[in-house]
Amino acid sequence: MGAFKTLDDLGDVTGKVALVRVDLNLPMDGGQVTDKTRIHASAPTILELAGKGAKVLLLAHFGRPGGERSSTQSLSMVIDAVQEVLGKEVMFVPEVAGPVVAQAVGILRPGDIAVLENTRFWKGEEANDPAFAKAIAANGDFFVNDAFSAAHRAHATTEGLTHYLPSYAGRSMQAELEALGKALGDPERPVAAVVGGAKVSSKLAVLKHLVSKVDHLIIGGGMANTFLAARGVDVGKSLCEHDLTDTAEEIMGAADQAGCTVHLPYDVVVAKEFAANPPSLRTCNVHEVAADEMILDVGPQAVEALADVLKTCRTLVWNGPLGAFETEPFDAATVALAKTAAALTKEGSLVSVAGGGDTVAALNHAGAAQDFTYISTAGGAFLEWMEGRELPGVAALER
Ligand code: 3PG
Repeated sequence: MGAFKTLDDLGDVTGKVALVRVDLNLPMDGGQVTDKTRIHASAPTILELAGKGAKVLLLAHFGRPGGERSSTQSLSMVIDAVQEVLGKEVMFVPEVAGPVVAQAVGILRPGDIAVLENTRFWKGEEANDPAFAKAIAANGDFFVNDAFSAAHRAHATTEGLTHYLPSYAGRSMQAELEALGKALGDPERPVAAVVGGAKVSSKLAVLKHLVSKVDHLIIGGGMANTFLAARGVDVGKSLCEHDLTDTAEEIMGAADQAGCTVHLPYDVVVAKEFAANPPSLRTCNVHEVAADEMILDVGPQAVEALADVLKTCRTLVWNGPLGAFETEPFDAATVALAKTAAALTKEGSLVSVAGGGDTVAALNHAGAAQDFTYISTAGGAFLEWMEGRELPGVAALER
């Protein structure tokens, strides 16, 4: 991780205009924000800047409107939620550049906050058009990027603006980069990674990168079935990408060479139908899955063995659930291992970092999230980071 400037490097900002990139791509239902986590994540940055007397202009995208205005994707819809979290009145400005924004800046007093319109209503955002970035920059004095979760995009408001304004990482971006650096940059060893989720195909690059980085790779979820199949296990009618068994074998070969132990379940929870507490539910050895059964969770013996692995580790990175955790009792393995990780973290023997939409939901469900060292609010950006890729929004801050 390179060096980047933080809010500690700002001088006096009284009356100056801060353009702050946040992530307001929030889950919504019927025009209502259903999860304010990402607003909470950036609240410290926004309130710190406002507290120091800056005029704070928030830049963010919502959805993928493709460079056109869309009434159902206006950021005006999130104003109430933003005001509620910040505990302050917030102005909405239906533009991101030009005279309307300049006029708003004239009206705002030091310490006031405004949300500008969805940056993706303009084609220049995703095209990272320098003219667009310059036009936005014209209304600001400095740029703060507090949206790690959008840092995998090289867009005008994540990358472009850094070319035209002094640029700083916000508190949430800073915390994220520090936590992630501790987890995979220069971690305390041994390091374990839990990678779960339905499909190997969506996490191939993650798995390939991790085998060279971690000491233990714990594979769960539907993707474990593809690895089991590669090892000659008959997985019945389990979710399995049979066309990727060669790839799974290659990954296991690369792990062997790198001295990384790949952990696959040796007992599993199976059922003939995917439903809550189905009558056909049973636990068996992986070699005993019947042709009409599907694997829906890691079995209790394997979970115990995995807990023992975590007890020997100093660092853990977690992405993806171990089973079909949204349906009982297929949440059991995820819940049990998450609780072990949380307890070890609490004791001080483990640094635990997790990220990705499903993962955060699973750890919250386990009641373990609050005891993890760090939980990332990022989805795609967290995965790209786990792939070892350079994130354009982060690289721009480090330049
Ligand atoms: C996210 O929700 O993960 C980020 O806001 C990025 O959104 P995007 O995938 O539409 O770029």
